[in-house]
Amino acid sequence: MKTKILTLLKNTDSYLSGQDLCNQFGVSRTAVWKAINQLKEEGYVIEAVPNKGYSLKECPDVLAYSEIKSVLTSKWAGQELFCFDTIDSTNTKAKQLAEEGANHGALVVSDNQSGGKGRRGRSWESPVSTGIFMTLILKPSLNPSDASMLTLVMAIAVAKACNKLTKDSCFIKWPNDIVLNRKKICGILTEMSAEMDYINHIVIGIGINVNMDTFQNELKEKATSIKIENGYPVKRAELINQVMLCFEEEYEIFMMHHTLEAQKERYNNMLVSLDKEVVIMEPSKEFIGIARGINSKGELMVEKEDGQMMAIYAGEVSV
Ligand code: BTN
Repeated sequence: MKTKILTLLKNTDSYLSGQDLCNQFGVSRTAVWKAINQLKEEGYVIEAVPNKGYSLKECPDVLAYSEIKSVLTSKWAGQELFCFDTIDSTNTKAKQLAEEGANHGALVVSDNQSGGKGRRGRSWESPVSTGIFMTLILKPSLNPSDASMLTLVMAIAVAKACNKLTKDSCFIKWPNDIVLNRKKICGILTEMSAEMDYINHIVIGIGINVNMDTFQNELKEKATSIKIENGYPVKRAELINQVMLCFEEEYEIFMMHHTLEAQKERYNNMLVSLDKEVVIMEPSKEFIGIARGINSKGELMVEKEDGQMMAIYAGEVSV
């Protein structure tokens, strides 16, 4: 009921009468009053005017279940929602929930992580109440060998979603980092459980630096947050909604042909290194070339000094 009251409050310009709420939910005045008080304790500023009712004046930047649900307008992504104040890693939790039967599109969100995981065994800084740490569970009918492209699909979705809330444009650093003013604001970690020809589940973990004020040590050089770049904070639940909406759109396009053919041009338009010199660091060697964008499989096409084109499918790229 708390979530439904919050949704109604957010969608009403004037006042919601207490009596109407009682009638609508078939509960007592006291039950409505208790739900309103819980919302106030969570940080919502709700004005109560005799003979008029309740009006929402201010919303806190929280990632509670009722806050996310009250702003979520997606069809399926995130509609099954698991929220935590703190957790080791939303990816680890998502894998467990997927095995226990969570559905395609279920989303795990935590306000902070005690053991946030990055790519290549690195850790991911996950401080309290400033970032988005979330993992989307997918159970697609897809060949396991095509699954890595879903990470790029998510990168397009996150870049598009962030662009709705950032003053400057966001770009993608291949394969799936999102950068703003050349510094990283988002990382994506995809993990899969599969058999040779069948995907049990894929979890796509997304960490977005939203409202952090500073970064420590070596991260200072490489990372930034939307708040630092904008000069003002943004509501994290709204950004989650935008990511879910954009992902639904991009996922549906991708699943038509299981390639990035229809999306590669848009991806390449957001590629930070397009037509620029990059250093490719493969496990065995390093080389320099010009990034020419991804192909329909999501590989980065790099033109070497001798004019030869290389398709990079793994490894790290500078810039
Ligand atoms: C990277 O190294 O760039 C990927 C970082 C991915 C971090 C996110 S935060 C939510 C999810 N849970 C994790 O433990 N990691 C991912």
